[in-house]
Amino acid sequence: MENAVSYAIKNDFYLVENLIEEDAFLKKALETTRENNLPEMEVSSAHGKFLYLLAKIKNASRILELGTYCGYSTIWLAKALSSGNGIIKTIECNETYANIAQKNIKNAGLQNKVKILRGDAAELLNKLILEKEEPFDMIFIDADKLNYPKYLELSLQLSTSGTIIYGDNVLRGGKLSNVSNPDSRGEGVRKFIEDLGKTKTLESTVLQTVGIKGFDGFSLSIVK
Ligand code: DHB
Ligand code: MG
Repeated sequence: MENAVSYAIKNDFYLVENLIEEDAFLKKALETTRENNLPEMEVSSAHGKFLYLLAKIKNASRILELGTYCGYSTIWLAKALSSGNGIIKTIECNETYANIAQKNIKNAGLQNKVKILRGDAAELLNKLILEKEEPFDMIFIDADKLNYPKYLELSLQLSTSGTIIYGDNVLRGGKLSNVSNPDSRGEGVRKFIEDLGKTKTLESTVLQTVGIKGFDGFSLSIVK
């Protein structure tokens, strides 16, 4: 049966065909997910290009990513870095994912622009804070949804005025506000959104999206 989501999926194919040119390395990164029988949970092509455009609009030279997965969004972001010496630090706790991402990033010739930090995101963020890491221009939160509130709190300590903070997958397949059907990831994301609203140093919004990944959405914030 045709419904809004099935139209949106067809639209996504049409839009991507007309607007988005993926180089061989981006295609390869997507292929490795399938070759390894892993879930296709990276951002869509249109969404990857959106992140790339956002990083370009921001003229970002320092990007932090939480949740590397197989490196697909990392490659999009690396392609957008403003200067020759721009850097992405990307955190991944799963060794298999980190190894695949490392290969994809090397294959794309981006190994000098991307540093994969392996381990628990909260621990690694705390380490960066302790080591007085320079603030990032853009922070892409795409790791385990349950811990989004903690990641926000730590990300704020690695930010400065103008830093963009982006939260992926905050709609829980459209069921975000269905509190009668509790799931811990939904609760993590709801707390994250409520924290965004309460954080007076942030200006935030959330957009709901529909496309190849079904019903989805993201938050976008800027540090005042
Ligand atoms: C899931 C996680 C993601 O970051 C995503 O973009 C899609 C799905 C998941 O955990 O299922
Ligand atoms: Mg995601």
